[in-house]
Amino acid sequence: MLAPPDPRPPLPAWYLDELAHAGPEHFDPTYVAGYDLKARVDPTDDLAHLREMGLGVASTLVDLGAGTGTFALAAAPLCRRVVAVDISTAMLGALRREADARGLTNLSCVQAGFLSYAHTGAPADFVYSRHALHQLPDFWKALALARIADMLRMGGVLHVRDLFLSCSTGEVSRVVEAWLDGAAEHPNKGWTRAELETHLRQEYSTFTWLFEPMLLQASFEIRQATYSDSRLYAGYACIRVR
Ligand SMILES: C[S@@+](CC[C@H](N)C(=O)[O-])C[C@H]1O[C@@H](n2cnc3c(N)ncnc32)[C@H](O)[C@@H]1O
Repeated sequence: MLAPPDPRPPLPAWYLDELAHAGPEHFDPTYVAGYDLKARVDPTDDLAHLREMGLGVASTLVDLGAGTGTFALAAAPLCRRVVAVDISTAMLGALRREADARGLTNLSCVQAGFLSYAHTGAPADFVYSRHALHQLPDFWKALALARIADMLRMGGVLHVRDLFLSCSTGEVSRVVEAWLDGAAEHPNKGWTRAELETHLRQEYSTFTWLFEPMLLQASFEIRQATYSDSRLYAGYACIRVR
């Protein structure tokens, strides 16, 4: 059957090709089938935090780079509407099957990227993104954050966590080597040294001291910043203030 025409306007020719930067593993059905076991995401703390920030039965939440949807699936019973956005149809297929199995009728899946998702309906109250923004180079992260601010209502919340290094350039080798030393032995159990090395070489983790000004530039006020002891991960709860 022919797919319906895509109603979205074409992106400018100079735009980043998000599919080409999305990480080929995210399109591999075997990788997707093993993702939850590998990633072992526990949404409890993030959900509790968003509830403290007002997430409730009237809320619309957009999860950007939702993957197999551990967070979106857990959030849906608490919200009015959840939109799970991902560039990978394989990831979204797994998410949709699980949402249907749980009878979640308020969760929709949209195949799109940070730079192409066009939000429709009431502005979002919450945007959530975990471990996905590193797919974009910094120039594009800044533009993605501006797009996120546009889809949120004034006072809406962005909750973003990723590999953001909270160290100086001089400390990078030590921080990264310690991370690699703690890598999983087997890919079923987590990310192996080879996978982490590939991440560093081919993807776009950045520094907290580069990312935080991008948040401010995109009209966010940072209400809470959390840095991991490893100094490799950071999470931000931000409010759209302009
Ligand atoms: C490491 S997974 C994280 C999934 C989930 N958020 C989690 O915390 O487990 C990264 C996800 O980002 C998606 N992704 C990659 N590039 C993207 C883009 N430009 N826009 C939206 N999603 C993207 C991938 O398909 C993948 O599902």
